[in-house]
Amino acid sequence: MNESLYLPRIAVLKDKRAETSDTVTFTFGLPEGGNLNNIPGQCLQLTVFGYGEAPISITSSPTKKDCFQLCVRDVGNVTKALHKLEIGDKIGVRGPWGNGFPIEELKGKNAVFIAGGLGLAPLRSLINYIADNRRDYGKVWILSGARTPKDHLFKWEWDRWSKIDGFEVLTTVDRGDDTWTGNVGVVGSLLYKTDIQVENTMVFICGPPIMFHFVTMDLAKLGFKDDMILSTLERHMKCGVGKCGHCNVGSKYVCMDGPVFTYAEMKKQPGAL
Ligand SMILES: Cc1cc2nc3c(=O)[nH]c(=O)nc-3n(C[C@H](O)[C@H](O)[C@H](O)COP(=O)(O)OP(=O)(O)OC[C@H]3O[C@@H](n4cnc5c(N)ncnc54)[C@H](O)[C@@H]3O)c2cc1C
Ligand code: FES
Repeated sequence: MNESLYLPRIAVLKDKRAETSDTVTFTFGLPEGGNLNNIPGQCLQLTVFGYGEAPISITSSPTKKDCFQLCVRDVGNVTKALHKLEIGDKIGVRGPWGNGFPIEELKGKNAVFIAGGLGLAPLRSLINYIADNRRDYGKVWILSGARTPKDHLFKWEWDRWSKIDGFEVLTTVDRGDDTWTGNVGVVGSLLYKTDIQVENTMVFICGPPIMFHFVTMDLAKLGFKDDMILSTLERHMKCGVGKCGHCNVGSKYVCMDGPVFTYAEMKKQPGAL
């Protein structure tokens, strides 16, 4: 039995960085030091004491050795309480859980990341993992879309990512403003603004279902096969250990079998798409 899935560990808030008006990246340390040894794409159950638990993706790469990070939107009971915490306050974490992204299978291949809004949070863990293990992986394209310029996450990472050899960062917004001089349009339109190679390339998509629907149509047009397209499924969760059935999709439990699935796997599970 992996006890970390059942028993919360304590983590201490070390830093808060506002990404947008309602979304913050939180940096936590473990009293015993180190990080969560997570695989990129894994999640945890976050406890804010007195408020409850919520499943959250780990946005940091395990190559960040002395802490872990969560990027969380203030939407409800637990996340609102988290946003009110101050440096030095404690939370509980269960996990990491889930399969994570296939970092071994991706070795030697190129990666396309397509993010809509908060979807960049789970993808960032793999982007930074590749950045820190650069020689093991091929080219990287990061395509990030948001409703408005103010809704983009991790703007402070764009410059660093675009300077890494073999990385290309393309961003867009649905609606521009006076400050925005970049692309305006849906994130899928960015696929046609660069020379993405289909051969030997895996695609990682995270974002709202409507975005996923249209982006997968664009990818099919470009020649990407369903088993080279991966995404994370978000479902209501309670236990996080395959016992309660809340996260059930077809014959799978998102907490145990996911959250990462190929598009080919999703198509086989009723209710996944
Ligand atoms: C695998 C996975 C990974 C995730 N990763 C992230 C992540 O990295 N970052 C992130 O920010 N989120 C993430 N989420 C989403 C997050 O878990 C949910 O938003 C979670 O519900 C937040 O908990 P909460 O208690 O703050 O919100 P809740 O109180 O559960 O509220 C959730 C939603 O329900 C609505 N709601 C609440 N109460 C009511 C009511 N009485 N009537 C009607 N509507 C109501 C809220 O407005 C909100 O939209 C992830 C979810 C999953 C499954
Ligand atoms: S959350 Fe309980 S079975 Fe997945």
